[in-house]
Amino acid sequence: MAAGIDDIAIYIPGLYLDAADFAAARGLDPVKLQKGLGVSQMAIVDANQDPACLAANACHRIMERNGLSPADIGRLYVSTESSFDESKAMNSYVVGMLEQVYGQGTFEHCGGVETKFACVSGSYALYDNTNWIRAGESDGKSALVVVSDIAKYDLGSSGEMTQGAGAVAMLLNDEPRLLAFDPRVTATSIKDEYDFYRPFGKETPIVHGQYSNLLYMIQVRKALELYKENVARTGLIKIGPEETILDHMDYINMHLPYSNMGKKALAYLVRHEWRQLPRWSAILEAVGMEEPVPGEGGGTIEAVLADGEFMARDHEFTRSFSQTEQFRQIYESKLASSLVASSMIGNLYTASLYLGFRSSLEFEFKKGADLAGKRVGFGSYGSGSSAMVFSGVIQPGYADVVRGMDLEAEIGPRRRLTWGEYEKLHENVLDPSEAAGPQGTGFVLVDVKTESESRGERRYAFVE
Ligand code: CAA
Repeated sequence: MAAGIDDIAIYIPGLYLDAADFAAARGLDPVKLQKGLGVSQMAIVDANQDPACLAANACHRIMERNGLSPADIGRLYVSTESSFDESKAMNSYVVGMLEQVYGQGTFEHCGGVETKFACVSGSYALYDNTNWIRAGESDGKSALVVVSDIAKYDLGSSGEMTQGAGAVAMLLNDEPRLLAFDPRVTATSIKDEYDFYRPFGKETPIVHGQYSNLLYMIQVRKALELYKENVARTGLIKIGPEETILDHMDYINMHLPYSNMGKKALAYLVRHEWRQLPRWSAILEAVGMEEPVPGEGGGTIEAVLADGEFMARDHEFTRSFSQTEQFRQIYESKLASSLVASSMIGNLYTASLYLGFRSSLEFEFKKGADLAGKRVGFGSYGSGSSAMVFSGVIQPGYADVVRGMDLEAEIGPRRRLTWGEYEKLHENVLDPSEAAGPQGTGFVLVDVKTESESRGERRYAFVE
C-alpha cells in the first residue's frame, strides 16, 4: 500500500530580522551571513506567538485548503524541540485551538503525541504515521504530522545568526498526491552526544557549533551506509559498479540549520561516495590537490577539529571541490531549490528539512521540471544525536498541489524588526497584548497564567 505526504502547509511568523541589520549590530561582515551561511532573513516570533500556535495555524491551513473536517483526521502528532511543558504534549494545545474553530470535542477520537529528538523527531513521526497507514490501522483516515519550532540562541552567541521560527504541517494518507515513501529502506544512526542540547528550564540551547556541524555530517553518512544496505537487501535500487546511491536520487533534501549547511553536508556525502570510484581521479585533477587526511590521533571529532593544519587544508579542498563542474552539477540539479526558503526564513529546527522539501517542489516546478516518478532522498539530523536517511517517489498527482504553491504568498506580509524590537522580543519582556507584527487571521496566544494553582496554563484565541 502506498503511504506518504499528500499536502504540505507552512506557517511563518510575520516579523523578521534582516541579516544586514544583524551583521551591523554585531559588528560582523554581512557577507559572512549572506554568502558564508546563506542567511538573508530570520523569522522571529511575535509576543503573542508560541510553537503551539504556529503548529495550530499550519494545521488549520492544511485542513481548510483540503476541505477536511476533524472526522477525516485519525492522528495528530506535533514534533518539536521548543516544548514549554514537561508533561502536557503540544498536540493537546493544538487540538484545543482547532476545536475553537471546528467545535468542542470534534477531535476526541484523534490520537497522537509530541515527539522529541532535536531536529530529527519530525522524521521519526512521519515514519511512524506512514507505518500506521501501511499497517491498515488508519481505516481511511489521514494523519497530520506538524513540525514546529522556534530556533532561538543566546544573545551574542555564535548560533544567534542562525535563528528562525515556523511550522510545517504535513497531511499523510494512502493516496498521497505529493510523495510516497519507499518501504523498508529507512535507515537510522544514533549516538549519545552533547553537540547541542537544552537542559530543563533553559530557553536557549548549549551549543558546540563546529562540533555539531561535523557530527551532523558523520551521523548522516552512517545512516546513508545503512540505507545503501537496505536498498540492496530489498532490491529497491540496483547500484551499478561505477555508480553511487546519490546517482539514484533525483533530488536530495538535507536538514538545514542554515541554508549553506545543506551544501556543506552534500559536499561531504558526495566526497565520501565518489572517493571509491574511477571518476575520483578527474575530480582530484580539477581540485588540484590530494584529499587531506587527519593527522595522528584523528580518531575523534575533538581531535579532528583541534588539528588546525588538517582543518585548513580540508577547508581549502572542500572549497575547490565545491567549485568543480561535477559537484556544481549535482548541487544545482538536486539540492539548490531546497535552500531558497531557508535563506528567507532561517532555522526551523524540526521543520527545516520539510520547509526545504516544500521549497524544492515549488522552485523545481517553476523551472518547468517534470517531477512525477522522481526519487527524493532525505538526510535528517537531530543533535544529541540521531540521523535518519530515507526516500520517496513523487506521485503522478503532484502538480495539482505544487501548481498552487507560492512561498511569498504563504509567508504573507512581513515586517522588518528594528534592533531594539528584536532585543525586547528575544528577552521576553513584552506581554502578548504588545504584539507588533502584521496581525492576520489565525491562532494567537492570549496569556500564560502565573497563579500557583494554574501556573503555565495557556489561553489562545482565533482571530478572524
Ligand atoms: N565572508 C564570506 N564567508 C565567510 C566570512 C566572510 N567574511 N566569514 C566566514 N565565512 C564563512 C566561513 O568560511 C564558513 O563557511 P564554510 O562553512 O564553508 O567553511 C561560514 O561562513 C561560517 O563561518 P564560521 O564557520 O567561521 O562560523 P562560526 O563558527 O562563527 O559559526 C556555526 C557557524 C558553528 C554554524 C554557528 O552559527 C552555530 O553554532 N550555529 C548553531 C549550531 C548549528 O547550527 N549547528 C549545525 C549542526 S547541528 C544541527 O543541525 C541541529 C540544529 O538545527 C541546531
